[in-house]
Amino acid sequence: MPIVTTNELLIKAREGNYAVAAFNTNNLEYTQAIVQAASELHAPVIVAATEYELHYMGGYAFVAMVKAIARDVKIPIAIHLDHGPSYEEVIRCLRYGMTSVMYDGSLLPLEQNIANTRKIVEAAHACGVTVEGEIGVIGQAADAHEGEGAAIDADLVGLADPDECVQFVQETKVDSFAAAIGNAHGLYKRKPELHFELLDEIYGRTNTPLVLHGGTGIPTEDVQKAITKGVAKINFSTVMRKGVIEALRASLDANPNELNYMKLLAPATQRMVDIAKEHIIMCMSEGKA
Ligand code: 13P
Repeated sequence: MPIVTTNELLIKAREGNYAVAAFNTNNLEYTQAIVQAASELHAPVIVAATEYELHYMGGYAFVAMVKAIARDVKIPIAIHLDHGPSYEEVIRCLRYGMTSVMYDGSLLPLEQNIANTRKIVEAAHACGVTVEGEIGVIGQAADAHEGEGAAIDADLVGLADPDECVQFVQETKVDSFAAAIGNAHGLYKRKPELHFELLDEIYGRTNTPLVLHGGTGIPTEDVQKAITKGVAKINFSTVMRKGVIEALRASLDANPNELNYMKLLAPATQRMVDIAKEHIIMCMSEGKA
């Protein structure tokens, strides 16, 4: 079934007042679980990988895997680079055949972030691929992707500046962007405080679909309020990693003599299906494929 760009999904999501869930993957079972969950709920979905996850899977293997799994279902799926760190990595992902890329220049001075993002938008758009940018600083993504799920204090984030967002969108022509509004990657130490009035101003002045990173641990009512204010894509990673490891550990403990890898893995994969479904429903994209 159709492999689409992220923005084909996000434009419809804005019109329909829901968000498309993006889940990070790093192997076959993650990807099967994400696609199965979305297919069972008849929801569009974004399958994402960071440079770190791509390095583990291989970029061509990742794209081929998603496309092969997508053949068996009838929902639209985008294949996305999460937090692309450089022009070179984005170009590699275009070559792998990804349909959507994020470039994260948020730690650079604004002018440099704009210059790099603009160059990436030109290259990606020439290939029919849509681009997500980032403004403000959304926690410590690197920590959250390394392993155990670092506990991140949401106060550490640098909120996005609406004037900078307007300049960023106008000068880069990005298709969507992640603005830091009090969210952070990884496990929140306490309930995150999203700045909804900031979200209102940013969306009101840019009229560009917004991406909410750090979806793990944001309460449902806040997720859904953010959707009414312009968020069209929500990223989830830690919640899946935590769930699958817990389920896998329980499966190994419960079956110490089992030598069938597939049987040991099955409950962990099912746990990911359940988690993905829960978050797709949270995004209100059920039935929107
Ligand atoms: P979480 O790991 O907090 O769910 O964030 C995922 C994310 O934003 C990936 O870009």
